[in-house]
Amino acid sequence: MSSKIRIGGLISGTGTNMDAIIQACEQGKINGEVIFVGSDNPEAKGLEKAAQKGIPTFVANYSEIIKRFKNNPDKSTLPHDFDLEDIKIKQSLLNRQTDAEKVSTFIETRAIAEAALLDKIKACPFDLLVLAGFMRNLTPYFIDRVNTTPGRPRIMNIHPALLPAFPGVDGYGDTFRYGCKIGGCTVHFIDYGEDSGPIIGQRTFPIEPEDTIDSIKQKGLALEYQLYPECIRLFAEGRLAVVKMTYTDDHGRSSQRSVVNITQIDI
Ligand code: GAR
Repeated sequence: MSSKIRIGGLISGTGTNMDAIIQACEQGKINGEVIFVGSDNPEAKGLEKAAQKGIPTFVANYSEIIKRFKNNPDKSTLPHDFDLEDIKIKQSLLNRQTDAEKVSTFIETRAIAEAALLDKIKACPFDLLVLAGFMRNLTPYFIDRVNTTPGRPRIMNIHPALLPAFPGVDGYGDTFRYGCKIGGCTVHFIDYGEDSGPIIGQRTFPIEPEDTIDSIKQKGLALEYQLYPECIRLFAEGRLAVVKMTYTDDHGRSSQRSVVNITQIDI
């Protein structure tokens, strides 16, 4: 049997998904071990739960870092290997109409926070980084420093909606308010956009007339706790291949997209 994968986790809140992943590792459902849990938020409840299990935890306090830079935009605090223009070109978190200064400040503040994150995790080499209710968008500054092998992404995220519908911070709420009759959750690799990377797995649930936002969150979370460990298991088994597909529409225009192929196990 191949060796256990080393999993790092990032959370912002209760960390129930992180807990489900830790349990799946403990129960041998994933051939892996969670080696750290970090957060942007010192109040994240999930940090305590992880620490109780003896897992090292850390915080890179985003709010504090962002506030400090906005109050005193001291460029010498930017990471030494930071290239604003490169990140501006790559990122698709903010659209091209967004005020240029706002874009620069967003990228600069996040890069400082991301450098703090990278600094914390550099002592713990990992195979896979899982975002489990991590409510911060990662910029190309961070992503490029983790995804160092082309075609082999290693940052996964769980999103509370059936992507590509309802990206953003309130997937279940947006699904409910839209009047959808089906809700769901999605696990994907992250790319330079918001919740836009190649999809690994999805689960759905029906939305009944008597459902409320709270009840659909409960239905969704119950599926998240199954789906996320299953997707991580596929990664640990080396069964996730990211391939570039080219599609040509009826007008002859072609576009490219990276998708995940799940390879079967030979029995
Ligand atoms: C989960 O529903 C997760 O899908 C969502 O936050 C919740 C975290 O709960 N993630 C996002 O919205 C990411 N944009 P948890 O902290 O108890 O796992």
